[in-house]
Amino acid sequence: MTHFRLLTQNPHEEAAPDDQLAIDVLTGLSAMPKHLSAKYFYDDTGSEIFQKITQHKDYYLTAKEVEIITNIKKQLADVIDEQEIDIIELGVGDGHKSQLIIDGFLQSGCKVNFYPIDISEKAMLMLQENIVPNDNLTIRGVIAEYFDGLKLVRGQSTNKQLVLFLGSNIGNFNREQSLGFLRKLWASLKADDYIFIGYDLKKDVQRLTAAYNDEDGLTAQFNLNLLSRINKELGANFKLEKFQHFGVYNPVLGAMESYVLSTEKQEVYISALQRAFQFEAYEAIHLEYSYKFSTKDINQLSQQTGFKVVKHFTDSNAYFVDSLWQVAKEDR
Ligand SMILES: C[S@@+](CC[C@H](N)C(=O)[O-])C[C@H]1O[C@@H](n2cnc3c(N)ncnc32)[C@H](O)[C@@H]1O
Repeated sequence: MTHFRLLTQNPHEEAAPDDQLAIDVLTGLSAMPKHLSAKYFYDDTGSEIFQKITQHKDYYLTAKEVEIITNIKKQLADVIDEQEIDIIELGVGDGHKSQLIIDGFLQSGCKVNFYPIDISEKAMLMLQENIVPNDNLTIRGVIAEYFDGLKLVRGQSTNKQLVLFLGSNIGNFNREQSLGFLRKLWASLKADDYIFIGYDLKKDVQRLTAAYNDEDGLTAQFNLNLLSRINKELGANFKLEKFQHFGVYNPVLGAMESYVLSTEKQEVYISALQRAFQFEAYEAIHLEYSYKFSTKDINQLSQQTGFKVVKHFTDSNAYFVDSLWQVAKEDR
């Protein structure tokens, strides 16, 4: 028996990914203000740059979440207390945090079936270097969008489920989208299944701003790489030196916002769309929100989406929270 397998989607169910990129770029660059979706950051180069960002001293989010998970992994397995568990991770990345959580369960004598889901093929390759399956650990990877992946996994999973959504990925949704996402997740889970979500907390603005404007320019490279991706995949002629990364905290929204700004008036042609797009000097393309939370925000989210909070776990600086919730449903 092989312990690592890729579960694949029916290719006829979805628009080809390149078509979807073209449609989304057309929609985003035709809008006022212009925008592009953050889900396209993670081509091979984007995934590699993101991995470097997570190791940078200014980007505290990864170090703090790893600190939390390292300290509580045994406790997590004890609280959940199962003989065999299905761990499903949405947007798994390189899997180094998953590895820690899985270790906690294996050390407690619990068998683990791990279902990592990520839109990026590169992420799934990096994960295979970090997590090695064995007799007590099977891995069924899915390269897909979150809920397409969940649908595939649902057909396979029979044990109690623990869904991981780490790295403050939830912060990329606005408040309405977070509610929608969590309700959809609730609907796809059974009574008493668990979810474990990483939230970046509201904090000093200098700290926040530094994390999204690291002194080595990795975040700038990461954001500008999205324009390179459009050049490569859609035949565009974005000149990267004529665009500038800008990351800023919006205290009213409680969110970091990332933009690229056109540093001069210019035109960009995208051959796959057979269209040119005009940019005014210092016109912005909005790329990403990274919403920040208070403990009250997190409790409210759980109440509004059908979950009960089991426990919040935080780090030594109280910068980050991983929160364990359980599905509240009555089987009558
Ligand atoms: C910010 S990284 C976090 C990675 C990892 N969870 C961590 O905590 O280090 C986001 C990951 O989610 C994936 N991702 C983003 N949007 C996605 C979507 N709509 N469906 C599936 N995966 C997605 C990306 O490819 C990337 O690997």
